Amino acid sequence: MTSNLGLIGLGTMGKSLARNIASRGFSLSLWNRTTEKINEFVDEFPDENFYAPQSFEDFVESIERPRRIILMVPAGDPTADLIKKLAPILDKDDAIMDGGNAIYKVTEIYQKQLEEKGIHLLGVGISGGEEGALKGPSIMPGGPVEAWEEFEEVLTKIAAEDFSGKACVSHMGKGGAGHYVKMVHNGIEYAEMQMLAEAYQMLKELYKLSHNEIADIFEKWSEGRMASYLTDISVDVLRKKEDGKELLDLILDKAKNKGTGVWTTQEALRLGVPSPTIAGAVFMRGFSNSLEERKKLDGLYPRLEQSPEMTLSEFTEHLEKALFATRLANFEQGFAILRAADKEMHYGLNFSEITRIWQGGCIIRSAILKDMNLAFSQKVQNLYFTEFAHTALVECQKSWKLIVNTAVKHSIPMLSISGGLSHFEASRRGRSSANFIQGLRDRFGSHTYERIDQEGSFHSEW
Ligand SMILES: NC(=O)c1ccc[n+]([C@@H]2O[C@H](COP(=O)([O-])OP(=O)(O)OC[C@H]3O[C@@H](n4cnc5c(N)ncnc54)[C@H](OP(=O)(O)O)[C@@H]3O)[C@@H](O)[C@H]2O)c1
Repeated sequence: MTSNLGLIGLGTMGKSLARNIASRGFSLSLWNRTTEKINEFVDEFPDENFYAPQSFEDFVESIERPRRIILMVPAGDPTADLIKKLAPILDKDDAIMDGGNAIYKVTEIYQKQLEEKGIHLLGVGISGGEEGALKGPSIMPGGPVEAWEEFEEVLTKIAAEDFSGKACVSHMGKGGAGHYVKMVHNGIEYAEMQMLAEAYQMLKELYKLSHNEIADIFEKWSEGRMASYLTDISVDVLRKKEDGKELLDLILDKAKNKGTGVWTTQEALRLGVPSPTIAGAVFMRGFSNSLEERKKLDGLYPRLEQSPEMTLSEFTEHLEKALFATRLANFEQGFAILRAADKEMHYGLNFSEITRIWQGGCIIRSAILKDMNLAFSQKVQNLYFTEFAHTALVECQKSWKLIVNTAVKHSIPMLSISGGLSHFEASRRGRSSANFIQGLRDRFGSHTYERIDQEGSFHSEW
């Protein structure tokens, strides 16, 4: 008896993924660092086709050839250790799938090392959290075609469905393409959460709404073009009570992170792609963590608060428009990073496919992806050039400015919504202020400048 696949790492994601895979008719050999957890898990699901091996060697032996092994452990040392342990005992043509949130460059190093032994490594971004892993995640695989072919059937069977019922999985490209796309997905996710948090703060502080009243507004948005998974679950978070108290009131305002937002921002900086909403979201997590300093400074400077100037219903209409416009700007920033990376690393990314596989299962799934998918299938590059974005931004830009203006007036920090607006404004400026920067650079450092009336490089005695 052999199992169809092996899976290592029975944590939150590994357990759900194992159950999802087994429910599609595959048999699985399981392994976990804390070995007691293997039997516990197998005993919990006696009807599933799981095998609990006696040893790591038994685990490797129990998988049908060529072997297919899924790693669901933290990126970094745990993944490195497992690859080191597996490499000498696997055979040519065996394939490993790393489903953790690895850095794309590290994935590419392992791919090279393993290919020397004829072992294929698929670097796979998986989004959807615990629930998605169980019921159907969005899956972003990257790596050699041989590795993709080994896992294509199982990944297609366990993935979520897009708006037309197709599986939310597609080979992203070679090398670390899968982990790269997942990284940018997470960067967009950071900005989406930050923009919703900014909307929450405005409604709470400006209009003194209760969490239930804010939930009613988010619920209404969920039914329109702002429909998205994150808008939906905002309602659950806003309505959650614990012992009669609002849970949100009890949660410390310190946001943790596992690094993918930082990596996306580092990539944006490295590639020279402006991404203020994503970077802003990462910086806001930084502010959230300086709790003591914030508390000391609060009160030291008076906040300039005024009474709201609009009715609540007028304000929420403007806010919806500002959020929709920010969502557009945010996705455009993510795709701009992907375009630049694809150009540099020749991954062979298909942007239309990315907007398709993000339609189901993943954390940033949202109604807007339908229009984006259509635009990218028509080979449009920058979203701002698309007809749907043009129509929406012309409609929303006045409200966008009004919301940023209101936040400034009421001392509400807003790096994502205002970052999105600045991104849009800077993107559409025929003439920017960089002539002034160039003048300064040449004045202090003789860095030279180009001219609009002559070809060449110039330096002036200022
Ligand atoms: N949670 C999510 O929403 C999510 C979504 C997408 C991707 N991911 C990625 O999926 C991977 C797994 O995440 P998770 O949430 O399932 O983590 P988790 O619940 O913390 O589980 C981690 C698993 O890895 C094992 N492990 C930890 N350190 C190890 C080591 N040094 N050597 C061998 N095994 C080790 C643990 O074994 P023990 O039982 O012995 O501790 C456990 O089985 C991560 O790369 C994560 O970034 C997570």
